Amino acid sequence: MTRLARFILGLLVALALLTWTVSGVVQTTTREWFERDVSEHARLAMVSATRSLADAWYDPDGLKNRLLAIDRNQHVIGVAACNVDLTTRSMTPDLPEVFRCQALGAWVRAAGTAAGDTNPKLQQWSTIATLPTGRVYVAAMPVIMQGQILGFVILAHDLSYIQRREARAQTFLLIVFGFLAVLAFGVPLLVARRVRDDWSTEVRKLLHGGGKKQPREFQPILSDVRELIARMADEREDLPGQWTADRLRQILNRNLHGEKIVILANREPYSHIRGEDGGIEVQHPASGLVTALEPIMRACSGVWVAHGSGNADRETVDRSDHVRVPPEEESYHIRRIWLSEEEQQGHYYGFSNEGLWPLCHIAHTRPTFRAEDWEYYKQVNQKFSDAVCEEVDSEDPIIMVEDYHFALAPAMIRKRMPAATIIAFWHIPWPNAERMGICPWHNEILEGLLGSSIIGFHTQLHCNNFLDSVDRYLETRRDREQNAVIMHGQRTLVRPYPISLEWPVHWAEMSPEPGECRARVFQELGLKPDALLGLGVDRLDYTKGIEERLAAVEMLLDRYPKFRGRFTFVQLAEPSRTKITRYRDLNEAVELLAKRINDRFGAEDYRPVVLLRSHHEPPEVFRYYRAADLCYVSSLHDGMNLVAKEFVAARTDLRGVLILSEFTGAAQELTEALIVNPYDLVKSSDALAAALSMPEEEQLDRMQAMRSMISRFNVYRWAGKMLVDAAHLRSQERLSGRLAERMPVGANL
Ligand code: G6P
Repeated sequence: MTRLARFILGLLVALALLTWTVSGVVQTTTREWFERDVSEHARLAMVSATRSLADAWYDPDGLKNRLLAIDRNQHVIGVAACNVDLTTRSMTPDLPEVFRCQALGAWVRAAGTAAGDTNPKLQQWSTIATLPTGRVYVAAMPVIMQGQILGFVILAHDLSYIQRREARAQTFLLIVFGFLAVLAFGVPLLVARRVRDDWSTEVRKLLHGGGKKQPREFQPILSDVRELIARMADEREDLPGQWTADRLRQILNRNLHGEKIVILANREPYSHIRGEDGGIEVQHPASGLVTALEPIMRACSGVWVAHGSGNADRETVDRSDHVRVPPEEESYHIRRIWLSEEEQQGHYYGFSNEGLWPLCHIAHTRPTFRAEDWEYYKQVNQKFSDAVCEEVDSEDPIIMVEDYHFALAPAMIRKRMPAATIIAFWHIPWPNAERMGICPWHNEILEGLLGSSIIGFHTQLHCNNFLDSVDRYLETRRDREQNAVIMHGQRTLVRPYPISLEWPVHWAEMSPEPGECRARVFQELGLKPDALLGLGVDRLDYTKGIEERLAAVEMLLDRYPKFRGRFTFVQLAEPSRTKITRYRDLNEAVELLAKRINDRFGAEDYRPVVLLRSHHEPPEVFRYYRAADLCYVSSLHDGMNLVAKEFVAARTDLRGVLILSEFTGAAQELTEALIVNPYDLVKSSDALAAALSMPEEEQLDRMQAMRSMISRFNVYRWAGKMLVDAAHLRSQERLSGRLAERMPVGANL
């Protein structure tokens, strides 16, 4: 039954019940009123009749005539004069049989009256009876003369007309209620239908591009409809395997006319290092940003502008500081920028990593903001922005500005290239507006970022935090429908684009089979064949929760003795930002913690924690991913965390368990991982135990679901979506630019 039918049925039942109750009440009330009227009327008639009947009591004809005169009254159906012995003295012909003189016997006997007495109990008798002809009211009264009872008079009154009136009142009531019911259903239905028709006409008009101005009340529904259409379009594009490097290239060619991409990121995808043997080696830096963006550059080609940080970088560039990468493939360029010690100190270590990094991560390290660092931050942003402008080959290039090292670059580039499409992506969390206020230069940071066409974050929450910060600190206009900020007439879209990996991950494809990886890793670590292996892979950074992770391992061995001697946790820890005291402190703390656990639970042939503090190239990292029984990602706060996704991508055998901190962006997507609060050591150790005891079938189910998710939402989709949005924005701007040229000066567009 439809919801409308249920509603109407309910309303009908309610109305019927109401009608029934009301008509019952009306019937009883009106009947009481009528009957009271009739009895009063009859009493008065009899009082006056008894007097004249007494006068004619001994005159049979006179008595008869008076009785007939009474009988002619409306609704009187019969009248009789009775002697005191209850025999009939005179009577009209229609008096019903049952109410003739004998009927008074009970009343008279009850009063105990002897003939001729006056008796106060014998004032009046009356009753209502139902005869086949209808209801009848009968009353009797003594006829008295000079204190002596001569006899009685009986008067029968027809009440059936009352029933007829009741029936008429009931019919009237039913008609009124019926009418009300029709009004109650009909009017709202008609109004609702009218409103719906108006709405759908208006919405259709607006969706087809008609209508001069969108009325306010239609804006929410229109944006919902647009969102739905976009989502449906996305879903069409998100078929498994649909987003590939080829598809991304096609998008670039079709929507952006094959323009090359210029990426600005501090970290370069390949650095050149002079090895111990004197030769030059290529290194892949440990950076989530690099992991995600490198496949995009391989797919699209272009230039990656970055800090030349390798100690052999200068030796490998050409005269314009370019080097073609990837080695052997050489599909794009790195343009290396050289920074002095002071610039690195102020820009990279100082403002970026002692200021913005702790500001944006809730990891309880206090941000430090120094005025001299800020000066270097501005200077280095300008230096890189200038380099970007040198690399472009059109007036409206596509430029991707990556991360917190370059918050000022979008506005700097925009100043030199007003028509550029600038896509800024913030790879780390964005704090709430209040916390952002800690940075003395929060306005400059926000204004710098608003130089871009699109600002992307991993999650909607970080978009909201950014928009709140803009609302709080800057004079701008918000386009809520588009999620855009308009500052000085320049529009910036603020959208979530959760970053991901290439799919399939080429490092996984190049790795030996998981069984072989396990055998090699077990051999390297000297593990027994029945050992259980846990894995952590991170830069040594206080946001990664490495101390909490090791403490959870200690708790596991404390609370689950069966794993002692069997479970080994390997931490691949890449030293990072070691010129900063906080990082050096962490390094020591982690070392001490690992030592303490090993002292407590280790044995001659057993080390519960293996801390490998050095750079590991991707093939080695993937060997560990494929060898481990579990991987524990325990970040205290993380924009996305691609280690979690890499572990899943590496497990082509569908084995292994991912334990993932709820404070990572990845936890919103990899919901089949064991999600933990890394601060809760008891629960985290329980999760470690659960992972180590998880049946293979469950591991397989979870891994399959996560792999399917990453394969669909891969990094080509991430970049593709941003480029498609950029292309839309660009064509909108071109159209409105053309329109502006044709319109008279001062016309409102
Ligand atoms: C994070 C940042 C990246 C950075 C990476 C490595 O993922 O978002 O921008 O490249 O850490 O840090 P590093 O300081 O070595 O570049």
